[in-house]
Amino acid sequence: MTFPHKIYDNYSLLQKNTLGLPSTARYYAEVGSVTELRCALAFAREKHLPVIPLGGGSNVVFGEFLDALVVHVNLKGKAVLSRDRDCVRVRAEAGENWHELVLWSLENKAYGLENLSLIPGTVGAAPIQNIGAYGVELKDSFVSLEAMSLESGLVEYFDRQSCDFGYRDSVFKREKRDQYVIVSVTLDLDATLKPNLGYGQLGDLLARRLGNQAPSAVDISQAVCDIRREKLPDPSEVGNAGSFFKNPEVSQLTMDRLKQEYPNIVAYQIGRNWKLAAGWLIDQAGLKGERKGRVGTYQKQALVLVNHGGATGQDVLSFSSMIQRKVNEMFGIRLEREPRLYMDDIGKIPRHRSRDQDNQDAI
Ligand code: FAD
Ligand code: EPU
Repeated sequence: MTFPHKIYDNYSLLQKNTLGLPSTARYYAEVGSVTELRCALAFAREKHLPVIPLGGGSNVVFGEFLDALVVHVNLKGKAVLSRDRDCVRVRAEAGENWHELVLWSLENKAYGLENLSLIPGTVGAAPIQNIGAYGVELKDSFVSLEAMSLESGLVEYFDRQSCDFGYRDSVFKREKRDQYVIVSVTLDLDATLKPNLGYGQLGDLLARRLGNQAPSAVDISQAVCDIRREKLPDPSEVGNAGSFFKNPEVSQLTMDRLKQEYPNIVAYQIGRNWKLAAGWLIDQAGLKGERKGRVGTYQKQALVLVNHGGATGQDVLSFSSMIQRKVNEMFGIRLEREPRLYMDDIGKIPRHRSRDQDNQDAI
């Protein structure tokens, strides 16, 4: 199969990842339709190269050379599919900007995404780690997605159950990792606003702003944006990928041990377990605002690693390993990285073979 669209070789990804890391893709293509995507995947099969789908690049750490085809997923479109008294069903293509989808949903009187305002990146990446913020996760409104199989080029349907969402987790980070490119997502939103103000800081800010008056969805969205702007660095000013580690979950037994030694530890009960604030652990380890060369933790939020300028993926990785080691030494807790690393492990991403190659083997 010949590829009808532009494929770039040795393409710089410096502007394509929010950490601002220098990286070169062996091949790079931007696809705006399912047909273009299918052609790009066929090209990768022909070259026997792994495929790396890319959205806004806000949750990746790139090594300096990616021996792969990086496919920037740029399919556009969003629509209200149906509306009744309770529910508004919407569908968005994978290349839509997430925050613009949130604003568009509110304009269309469809509620439930307001707490997820201002999360960088695309609709297609949102299910990969089941994005979440301020007490809401994507899975709360998720109905289904369509994804193209890298192996067959066919578009398959996944409902909520088959995505097996968890905290910053889905089947696409586990059993189905590196096997699909998500092309669209369908969500069921609420026809009437049901404010979710359980996250203390959000409720407090709205109460200060509005007193006893009930907040509108736009009030909530704006409050979330303001809190985020206050706490998190803007990637257009300081390179970062949001939280660099997940908040670890520990048993009651571990929690009892920690509480004895650190009575002020910040933690939230989740069923029988506890979720620890990783930012607090890093902060208490004396690493807030820490800097080693070109990488550091953010002054206002220790969970966020920042590129002070000129850092490489390896610098970020080494710095994050130092944080993991120090937190483990102090608390006996292992922090798990949140962004996806594309470093030396690219060789492990499956490569699919074209039918021609299979036929040649058979001769
Ligand atoms: P990318 O970084 O481009 O890709 C991330 C991963 O998804 C990669 O493995 C990539 O291959 C894969 N991928 C991307 N698109 C597709 C596709 N169409 N099909 C298959 N695989 C795909 N996350 C939260 O959950 N909550 C937050 O509050 C939050 N705050 C953030 C704040 C800042 C300042 C930043 C920089 C990041 C934050 N993040 C947060 C992380 C990030 O915004 C999300 O993970 C987001 O969903 C990533 O979208 P993206 O398009 O940039 O994905
Ligand atoms: N804290 C500190 N010091 C710090 C940072 C945090 O003590 O330097 C403590 C604070 O006391 C605070 C607690 O940790 O009470 C939690 O901090 P915050 O409210 O900032 O949230 P977080 O747990 O650090 C998580 C998500 C964010 C999400 C916010 C809001 C993860 C890994 N991170 O951060 O998601 O926006 O909650 O819901 O779950 C992301 O995934 O990239 C991300 C930014």
